[in-house]
Amino acid sequence: MDVKKRKATVPWIMMMMFILLFSGNFSGCSQAASQRPNKKKSTHPKAASGFGSSVLFPVTGNVYPLGYYSIWLAIGQPPKVFEFDIDTGSDITWVQCDAPCTGCTKPVDQLYKPDKNILVPCNHPSCGAVHFPESPRCEKPDDQCDFEVDYVDHGSVMGVVVNDFFSLRLMNGSLIRPLLTFGCAYNLQNPGPYPPPSTAGVVGLGNGKASILSQLQSFGLTRNVLGHCLSGKGGGFLFLGDDLVPSGIAWLPVSAESKHYLSSPAELLFGGKPTGIKDLKVVFDSGSSYTYFCSRVYKALLDLVSRGLNRKPLNSVQDKALPVCWKGKKPFKSVHDVRNYFSSLTLSFTNTGNIQLQLQPEAYLIVTEHGNACLGILNGTEAGLEDSNIIGDISLLDKMVIYDNEKQQIGWASANCDRLPNWDSNYDEHFRPYAANFGILEENYPAKQASSKSNIRVRDREL
Ligand SMILES: *[C@@H]1O[C@H](CO)[C@@H](O)[C@H](O)[C@H]1NC(C)=O
Ligand SMILES: *[C@@H]1O[C@H](CO)[C@@H](O)[C@H](O)[C@H]1NC(C)=O
Repeated sequence: MDVKKRKATVPWIMMMMFILLFSGNFSGCSQAASQRPNKKKSTHPKAASGFGSSVLFPVTGNVYPLGYYSIWLAIGQPPKVFEFDIDTGSDITWVQCDAPCTGCTKPVDQLYKPDKNILVPCNHPSCGAVHFPESPRCEKPDDQCDFEVDYVDHGSVMGVVVNDFFSLRLMNGSLIRPLLTFGCAYNLQNPGPYPPPSTAGVVGLGNGKASILSQLQSFGLTRNVLGHCLSGKGGGFLFLGDDLVPSGIAWLPVSAESKHYLSSPAELLFGGKPTGIKDLKVVFDSGSSYTYFCSRVYKALLDLVSRGLNRKPLNSVQDKALPVCWKGKKPFKSVHDVRNYFSSLTLSFTNTGNIQLQLQPEAYLIVTEHGNACLGILNGTEAGLEDSNIIGDISLLDKMVIYDNEKQQIGWASANCDRLPNWDSNYDEHFRPYAANFGILEENYPAKQASSKSNIRVRDREL
């Protein structure tokens, strides 16, 4: 089961939607699982020659009230830019497309216009990758290759698989125009109570062959590694390739069988103490605004959080933003006003040395426009996720999160996501005009950093 939430800009709903793509092996909530042997900390090897190039994107968006983070991608000749929700929970990149389109949310002049010559034939391996692990149904080998993304709430996206040129600026300054396979979506159904997507499309950054990252790797352009750094203040950056992977990061193996970034089992700690909840496998999914635990875990967590609030000046309150909220004596301005009333959550990956995912209160709470604090962990069973658990954007903030598809591992480290990382001057020169092409304001880019002093090793002793 592939899940992906769609955007919600309307605050009174739970701000969530899911895309059900293919069947896969999401782990059960209650099942114990046998896992691969422990992996110790390792550093990522530097890119081999022929690689060493990455693509860096500024990210816009926030968890609340927007509910998503997005990047802009330029497609076609001449290039036209589109906003894409970034989703590590699915593989297929698709864009609303004037084929013509039924149910598209963007005006016609903001849709992608496919050229007739770019259809991918049904018998082409690219079509197979989009449909994997199933096979495309082709009546004739040169039939068009269709794709469909079904939503748990009965919404869906349908369209045709196409090839077109993407314009990507590598971090060394070179502009590349690879021919990539993606979905031209011309039928969007949205019968449920949720609003339609507000981006033009979704960029699928899951670990399948159909992802644009996998395609870039197959052309020898980037490593099949990506990372994101989503800021709690909104915005951040995303990169494809391994040039910005911090050294010394602790890696957690992810399932080779799953199409998701599915972890090995973890034990849940609350305030540093065991909760008795073990064997919890989680999916890392940037396409989900909030975090989801299956009913059993969700209920236990609600009890723990409520008990922790005994004798604290917080009372339950209804807020249309999310199901579980509290108010204080006066409205809260930010999560920092309430964080001291709550304990940290920890996922301790028991099979994997000492690797822990620390979730401080700001990684599971939001403060709404009404000044209430709400729990950003939701009942996955109720949302139709069955036994799955999802670590969504709210719990991935202010961390560099790296997904390494070559080694099937995921890693994270605290980071300041408000600044783009160091880049070489060549890149900076090229990136600014390119950013302007993307309609992104120059002032959103921090000034180039002064040369770092950390390279000057004053204490080196000469022999
Ligand atoms: C940037 O890297 C790519 C891929 O490695 C290479 O082909 C290109 O020549 C490089 N450009 C510059 C300006 O170094
Ligand atoms: C979670 O959702 C399921 C399915 O709707 C429901 O049966 C269960 O009671 C919910 N759990 C809690 C703690 O609300």
